[in-house]
Amino acid sequence: MEEVKEIGDVEKHYEVLDMVGDGGQGDLFLGRDRKSGEKVALKLQKARDLGPESFFHSAGRSLLEEGSRMTLLKGIQAIPEVIATGTHRGRRCLIVEFVEGRQLQNVLLAARPVRHPGTVASIIGQLCEILWEVHTRDLVHCDLKPENVIVEPDGRLRLIDMGYAITAGEPTEYERGTRGWASPEQSDACPSGLTRRADIFGLGCILLEMTVMRLPYGGLEERAELGGPVLPADRLEKLPPEFASLALRMVRWEGEERPADVREVFDRIRRYLPQQGSRRPSKRLRPDPTEYYRTHPPRLWR
Ligand SMILES: Nc1ncnc2c1ncn2[C@@H]1O[C@H](COP(=O)(O)OP(=O)(O)OP(=O)(O)O)[C@@H](O)[C@H]1O
Ligand SMILES: [Mg+2]
Repeated sequence: MEEVKEIGDVEKHYEVLDMVGDGGQGDLFLGRDRKSGEKVALKLQKARDLGPESFFHSAGRSLLEEGSRMTLLKGIQAIPEVIATGTHRGRRCLIVEFVEGRQLQNVLLAARPVRHPGTVASIIGQLCEILWEVHTRDLVHCDLKPENVIVEPDGRLRLIDMGYAITAGEPTEYERGTRGWASPEQSDACPSGLTRRADIFGLGCILLEMTVMRLPYGGLEERAELGGPVLPADRLEKLPPEFASLALRMVRWEGEERPADVREVFDRIRRYLPQQGSRRPSKRLRPDPTEYYRTHPPRLWR
């Protein structure tokens, strides 16, 4: 894997400011470049306090691996660029481009259920375009969820958190991802390796979460249980039928029964995308993801 520049003591180069996020694997701080004044995101290994020393070391290693994976995604505009690695008070640190905006999770919480077809299509459509580029580089993100998506003030979506990303087809030894959104094949070792269809499952979960406010297969804490996805029929009925049938296919238990790639998903929602130059929806999210397609053609599939 490609090496990321190592800068040693973070504080020599960056001012460490407020904590802005608290993830499962790291604490996120805002930083400022002492020379240029540019803002950066500092993803810091969790403090040493709990658990055995070996955990702390492996967490440090994972963070550096995350940095290497991010270099494989260099040039994908929607994915923040990794700048360097370093150490801050004994904790390993990843220095990444800072993304302004609001987590999709909070944007949705303020407005759910989100059923406006143009809004739903703008979110899923942008994520399809981003994932296409990730999958084209043979990576699977493995942790798609609204927490890992930032909506920029101009309605553009950015995908963060490469903590679980992996090369497609590479065997995995442990559970990978976040319960609730992770596909069944991620819930345990997967000797044949994960494929892009694992991300299609996660994307289907995001679609269901915003429209019917439920995750399939029992939700957050439990591992997915074999069977069909259990979803409230009365809420599914309120969606355009294409969205409901698409979402249900995306979260099929068996990967082969899901759409083959995100292009196929995009083609199914394409007709709901807001036209370029059209007016904003009367009830809109803040920031508003429709703004992206109202001001740009789709980047990939015009
Ligand atoms: N580049 C960035 N710019 C701005 N905010 C960010 C950036 N990266 C992460 N954040 C914020 O910090 C939070 C935690 O970051 P991230 O998801 O990378 O950590 P994690 O520990 O891997 O999370 P998880 O709980 O998903 O395992 C994010 O949800 C987001 O709010
Ligand atoms: Mg995260």
